[in-house]
Amino acid sequence: MGLSFRLLILSLPFIVLFSSPAGAAQPGCLGCHKRHYVERGRCVTCHRGDDRTDRKRVAHDGLIPGRFAWFTIQGSPPVERGKKLMDTFACRRCHTIGGKGNRPAANLDSSALLRQPREIFHAIQSPVQYMPDFRPADGEITDMVNAILAGATAKKSKETPLVVHFQNTGTRENIFEKHCGACHRMLSTRDGGIGKGEIGPNLSGLFSPFYPATFRERERWSAANLKKWVANPRRIKNGTLMQPIPLNEQEFAGLTEILQH
Ligand code: HEC
Ligand code: HEC
Ligand code: HEC
Ligand code: HEC
Repeated sequence: MGLSFRLLILSLPFIVLFSSPAGAAQPGCLGCHKRHYVERGRCVTCHRGDDRTDRKRVAHDGLIPGRFAWFTIQGSPPVERGKKLMDTFACRRCHTIGGKGNRPAANLDSSALLRQPREIFHAIQSPVQYMPDFRPADGEITDMVNAILAGATAKKSKETPLVVHFQNTGTRENIFEKHCGACHRMLSTRDGGIGKGEIGPNLSGLFSPFYPATFRERERWSAANLKKWVANPRRIKNGTLMQPIPLNEQEFAGLTEILQH
């Protein structure tokens, strides 16, 4: 412990004083930006970032840009538009969003809070193998990101993230893979991603309330309805591209069992 150490101690108050001359009057963000939404919280409540510095690069670390900050305002137009889009695309076939939905893929209520908005954006723009590519416009993706984050913030789900297996794990014969997988895919909580086809719709959660009611254009897909469809799709929908698939009782039972998981 020499002289230099004591000198450092003595000079500490000066370092603190002179390093942020405007510190107390115009801290962090307000040195460069005007206030808005003051009644709803501090800048970092909605934008994250770091408001203990005047340096932009540091202050903007992990910043949520304006276009993604709408999620903090429940009921705002981007959030409402995003919710509608996710209903249209039936994202809840595979995800839990805002407390509702199936669970073969990530519960977005818990996983979204661990991600940067642009990572969520990217996950929708360039989807993984077993997530359909909806090809939404950038503005639509931005709206969905806001709606996902709004749902996640409202729910703050305590569930642990589910680990998804993307390969068919079972070696036992999979009826879905064999008879449907050339044209369809599905994601199952138990079996992971099965099927390789692109020309038919993704059948994840077919019997759940989150799959669109497309049987006879407005009915739900029950096992009984699926049986009629598979036996003769053209009797249900004129001009459909899907051919009849002959299945015996046992095969059909195996198929519905897979579709239920
Ligand atoms: C040293 C000045 C400076 C500080 C400090 C600063 N910013 Fe900025 N900020 C800017 C400038 C300049 C822009 C314009 C766009 C750019 O250059 O990134 C900007 C842009 C933004 C944007 C818009 C980004 C977008 O793409 O929509 C947000 C939001 C923002 N700042 C929030 C904050 C918050 C919150 C803080 C405090 C935690 C903060 N800023 C601190 C200078 C600053
Ligand atoms: C309640 C949440 C909320 C709070 C608190 C908030 N913002 Fe924002 N901010 C938003 C939203 C939503 C937008 C995008 C829409 C808009 O411009 O109103 C935005 C946009 C911005 C932009 C980009 C504006 C533009 O024209 O592109 C900047 C910069 C910004 N905020 C800075 C700040 C700063 C600095 C603070 C703290 C004084 C702050 N915000 C507090 C929600 C908030
Ligand atoms: C057929 C099933 C399926 C559908 C439908 C689906 N996804 Fe996904 N999604 C996945 C899979 C699989 C992943 C990979 C990560 C995981 O869930 O384990 C994923 C990942 C994501 C992620 C990244 C999650 C994270 O934490 O990494 C987001 C965000 C997302 N999906 C949003 C959407 C949105 C929005 C829709 C509707 C427009 C949608 N998904 C529809 C299967 C699906
Ligand atoms: C040779 C390709 C092919 C095979 C094999 C096939 N499908 Fe399809 N399936 C399609 C196509 C294409 C469509 C879209 C038809 C349309 O929309 O008119 C479709 C549509 C469907 C639909 C309607 C979904 C909706 O939302 O409208 C269901 C349900 C379905 N198939 C179930 C099955 C099942 C179960 C099997 C296996 C037993 C199977 N399909 C095998 C090509 C196939």
